[in-house]
Amino acid sequence: MEATPGAGPGRRHPGGTIPGMPIDKISLTDKLATFTEQWAPKIIGRLNDYELKIVKVQGEFVWHQHDDTDEVFLVLGGELTIDLPDGAVVLGPLETVTVPRGVRHRPRAETETSMLLIEPAGVVNTGEAGGEMTAVPESLL
Ligand code: NI
Repeated sequence: MEATPGAGPGRRHPGGTIPGMPIDKISLTDKLATFTEQWAPKIIGRLNDYELKIVKVQGEFVWHQHDDTDEVFLVLGGELTIDLPDGAVVLGPLETVTVPRGVRHRPRAETETSMLLIEPAGVVNTGEAGGEMTAVPESLL
């Protein structure tokens, strides 16, 4: 859906939806089928200043934290472990957790796992840690 001015890939819309935007449903299954890259979040929705992103992961991410925002993880398929300072939380399909701002965490998955992330537009996936796993989300809208 590229007909709306300003809705092209990679554009950020900190104000959320765009007036006049078509109101189309989105199939997460269909969107997940459009890419294979891992640890590369894709924007599939916007909510005020927040973005809904889907991502496929496998292996270990980096320990990091987000000082300014909480982060919601909702597993769609597979199994995600999020290491936390005092242990780990393991999420299966349709399970979710919110990691509070300022709490160090490290997502990891033994087999390929897909999930939905909800966080403010512009948040850096690696938080303060940076490094080669830092990814600018591509828009699938
Ligand atoms: Ni994070």
